[in-house]
Amino acid sequence: MTPESPAVGTAKRVRIHHIAQAKREGTPITMLTAYDALTAPLFEAAGIDMLLIGDSIGNVMLGYSTTLPVTLEDIERATAAVARSTSRPMIVADLPFGSYESDVTAAFNASSRLMKAGAHAVKLEGGAHRADLIRHLTTNGIPVVAHIGYTPQSENTLGGPRMQGRGDAADRLSADVCALEEAGAFAIVFEMVPDSIATRLTAQTSMATIGIGAGPHTDGQVLVWSDMAGMSEWTPSFVRRFRELGVELQGATRDYIAAVRSREFPAKGQFAAE
Ligand code: KIV
Repeated sequence: MTPESPAVGTAKRVRIHHIAQAKREGTPITMLTAYDALTAPLFEAAGIDMLLIGDSIGNVMLGYSTTLPVTLEDIERATAAVARSTSRPMIVADLPFGSYESDVTAAFNASSRLMKAGAHAVKLEGGAHRADLIRHLTTNGIPVVAHIGYTPQSENTLGGPRMQGRGDAADRLSADVCALEEAGAFAIVFEMVPDSIATRLTAQTSMATIGIGAGPHTDGQVLVWSDMAGMSEWTPSFVRRFRELGVELQGATRDYIAAVRSREFPAKGQFAAE
């Protein structure tokens, strides 16, 4: 499928230099989560720049209440499905909880599996304390997207989803951004960070900043696709529901059930008479 009007400067595969160029030129970068070969091509056809195989797959697709149970195999299979079914967006795969924190070898081994599955970059959560790990990955050929602010894998130490970076904590985020940039990350997700802090950090760094619940002044935006498409029962306050696909799908299912029960389906032309 050919993407509708790609904004980030290429009709071919989006690569890290396109992301850097978009930041320099002030072109907003668009990212959505994707988990399968059914929906990823639709996002590509609409012109999305980056697809994130997020560990939100745990909540969205696998029925968990947190991202913590998600395994490397879960992300690996989803990454392969998205890679097989798309050709333009940059594919970023999340390193799931427990797959990378212990040491650089664990991080490299997990990342290389995701790259072999078709990812073009990996994302991992955490601030300055992840710098050595990121340096190891980037010097060994693996582009890294960092992720600070509210980091769901640490929800138990952060006390659940809540704004990060207020007051003195803003200086810590600023130090994190410096360390992660110096370590070689090419982009960074800011999740649930006040707009004023996200704006300041975006101006401070050469990394492309991608916000979720971080205001309109980051270099790009990311949302969990099922949230923005109205597939979730509840959505956080920073999400806009651009359509109500859940209602549509339920309506289609209701119509199907009614048509089968009334024997109106299958109708003439939908079956062979002999
Ligand atoms: O897993 C995910 O979907 C994410 C986004 C919320 C940034 O990390």
